[in-house]
Amino acid sequence: MKRILVTGAVGQIGSELTGKLREKYGTDSVVAVGHRTKPTEKMRNAGPFEFIDICDKDALEKVVVKYNIDTIYHMAAILSVIGEQKPQLAFKVNMIGLYNILEVGLEHKLERIMCPSSIAVFGPKTPKDNTPNETILCPTTMYGVTKVAGELLGDYYFKRFGLDVRGVRYPGIISSETLPGGGTTDYAVAIYYEAIKNKKYTCFVREDTVLPMMYMPDCIKAIIDLAEADISKLKHHCDFNVNSMSFSAGELADSIKKHIPEFTCEYKPDFRQEIADSWPRSLDDSSAREEWGWKPEYDIDSMTEDMIAKLSNKLL
Ligand code: SER
Repeated sequence: MKRILVTGAVGQIGSELTGKLREKYGTDSVVAVGHRTKPTEKMRNAGPFEFIDICDKDALEKVVVKYNIDTIYHMAAILSVIGEQKPQLAFKVNMIGLYNILEVGLEHKLERIMCPSSIAVFGPKTPKDNTPNETILCPTTMYGVTKVAGELLGDYYFKRFGLDVRGVRYPGIISSETLPGGGTTDYAVAIYYEAIKNKKYTCFVREDTVLPMMYMPDCIKAIIDLAEADISKLKHHCDFNVNSMSFSAGELADSIKKHIPEFTCEYKPDFRQEIADSWPRSLDDSSAREEWGWKPEYDIDSMTEDMIAKLSNKLL
């Protein structure tokens, strides 16, 4: 029987991933772990929930032992924008936190650790279109630096100690349940909320800014599919590119206008533009497709239709 712990379970991805894993493996088999962000009543009551600072290894270890955990989905992280405002905090949470997870994984002989990486591992010197899996990794953000180190560390623990660590490089994730916090790609979520509530949005990147994005159902599918992949087929472990869709901020606004014709979007780029400009526009994900059958389902228009339906329900 699987005994899963999800860190960052109050966050954008963690909150929906926890629900999906509970559907799959049973409510009591999945322990949600939060820290700073207050969970909603719904999250608190949906199944086992613990508060831990992942920088506190003893606390982490106690929960792993208490629930007899064999698998960790380590979703807790400080993203790119907060990481630039608080680089020391980003280093601590993203590096010390991961180190604790890996060490506890080793000491307690965990079966598997899933640890997502990000397109933030790339930087201005990386080829921007159809970015290869193996390429220049010279990020300019603390978030990116910690994600490159995290990929290398995960691969090291696999090769050196045989700890089964796996991860995909997520693009911007768009979803309707929990808001993202402190990322550069957050505009691609905020635009939907504002379009529905106020019919207008001021976007913090230029209209022609193109970034790779993914809708939440595909985001969850990516990490669960990789977790279930046959290890003998994996040539990569912690650094899979996963591509889904790429569009400019202007194209996203146009996709929303098809449903909300009166919607208007203005563009006032701020410091986050530079981060967006340092990341690829699209990714070559042939390794993920070949090694574990990655295939996304949503495109921009099917995502927009679903986002608008779900958010209209929630906000209106
Ligand atoms: N969504 C993240 C960010 O914008 C990228 O992984 O920081």
